Amino acid sequence: MSNDIKKTFHITTFGCQMNEHDSEIMAGMLVKAGYKPVSEKKEAGIVIMNTCSIRENADKRFFGTLGQLKRRKENGENFIMCVCGCMPQQQHIIDTIKGKYPWVDLIFGTHNIHEFPRLLENCINEQRKIIDVWPEGGEVPEGMPCKRLYKHKSYVNIMYGCNNFCTYCIVPYTRGRERSRKPEEIVKEVQALARDGVKEIMLLGQNVNSYKGRNDGADHDTTFAELLCMLDRVDGIERIRFMTSHPKDLSPELIKAFGTCKHLCHQIHLPVQSGSSRVLKRMNRHYDRERYLALIGSLRKAVPDICITTDIIVGFPGETEADFEDTLSLCREVGYDSAFTFLYSVRKGTPAAGFEDQVPEETKHERFNRLVDVINEGSARRNAEYVGRTMDVLIECEAKRERGDGLDKPGPGQVTLSGRTDGFKLVNLAGPKELIGQIVPVKIISSNTFSLVGKLIN
Ligand code: SAH
Ligand code: SF4
Ligand code: F3S
Repeated sequence: MSNDIKKTFHITTFGCQMNEHDSEIMAGMLVKAGYKPVSEKKEAGIVIMNTCSIRENADKRFFGTLGQLKRRKENGENFIMCVCGCMPQQQHIIDTIKGKYPWVDLIFGTHNIHEFPRLLENCINEQRKIIDVWPEGGEVPEGMPCKRLYKHKSYVNIMYGCNNFCTYCIVPYTRGRERSRKPEEIVKEVQALARDGVKEIMLLGQNVNSYKGRNDGADHDTTFAELLCMLDRVDGIERIRFMTSHPKDLSPELIKAFGTCKHLCHQIHLPVQSGSSRVLKRMNRHYDRERYLALIGSLRKAVPDICITTDIIVGFPGETEADFEDTLSLCREVGYDSAFTFLYSVRKGTPAAGFEDQVPEETKHERFNRLVDVINEGSARRNAEYVGRTMDVLIECEAKRERGDGLDKPGPGQVTLSGRTDGFKLVNLAGPKELIGQIVPVKIISSNTFSLVGKLIN
């Protein structure tokens, strides 16, 4: 490594919205320090991998990508290789990187992202390898720059970490204990975003329902529902979403907020993980099937048009055919708009990794396919209910892929656009590019399993 490094950077992001947002912040800090983003790794003086460790294939993808860069280092190419995010928060991963990928220049974790520019500078100036991973987060850093992926929508962190220790999950080990940002700091950030033209905010936390905003001078901590009401009053913000909410902490106050907060989208991601109370207990989720279904009932009663999505794990240790059928029947009963489905993946250091009754791979795959069929059937049915209705759609970008029966060919001056309804349904339609960033009424003319097809109303 010489200190004659190109002032360009490239970030590869694995994992969840937290990581995406962390990458936006790292990009913001690098731009402030005079670096330019480039779209190809090979053009970059600083190559960054922001890693995820949630399932084994996330680990594999990371090591695969890292392996591809090895030859470039061996050929003497001059770039700084940085690894950050959830993987290096685990000692065994640091040991593997040190042993097999000794040419990685800078390793840091999830708790010291705000130190990245300083670490990088030291790494370059002193021409030495740096490993700096903190076991826990300190004071929540405020006022960090951010290079947003979208102009009209933005992620906003409201809390960090997780205290829940679901027995399968690595996150409490990689993100540390729960820490909430102060409500006034969040409001200040959202006001600045609104001034910058942002219309939609997505509030981020591993468990937003346990948000507890320290409120100097007030007699109690600000709850998540109170925070929503504060943000609802920020001028210019038209849509507020949040993720993820844990069913065990979903309060009646939050359900009420859907009625009182004008800008709160009628959408909730409420991971169920399993439909079997026995499995939920072994997962340490602190709710059972009945409680979950009761919550869904209250949500639907208070907000009849709410869109509900979920996460489900198939093949958790000890899951029997009867347990799995409970999951299928719960999915049918709830009628999810969509769901992320995962094969259980053993995570080193978590309690479930030591459970002896692991489910054979073959059984997991067979159940997974059956579950996907039930989920897709439900999604298609829910989407079909929208045909003929007119929805407000926030136009986000040009469509990545054109799809859907009945989608008009773009006319002169038009492209195929993608947008989202209040309920977060993906809508494709033909229209002028200038609509990107605007909320427009769209008539839904047909539906697919994963998206809707619309037409602009003139
Ligand atoms: N904090 C969020 C989830 C974050 S992880 C929540 O509690 O809802 C996102 C999803 O990954 C989880 O909901 C779970 O379905 C899945 N997941 C986590 N650990 C997993 C593992 N070891 N194997 C398979 N899926 C896992
Ligand atoms: Fe993982 Fe459970 Fe925390 Fe979600 S709530 S991040 S699944 S430990
Ligand atoms: Fe992955 Fe870490 Fe998010 S493990 S899912 S990047 S919190």
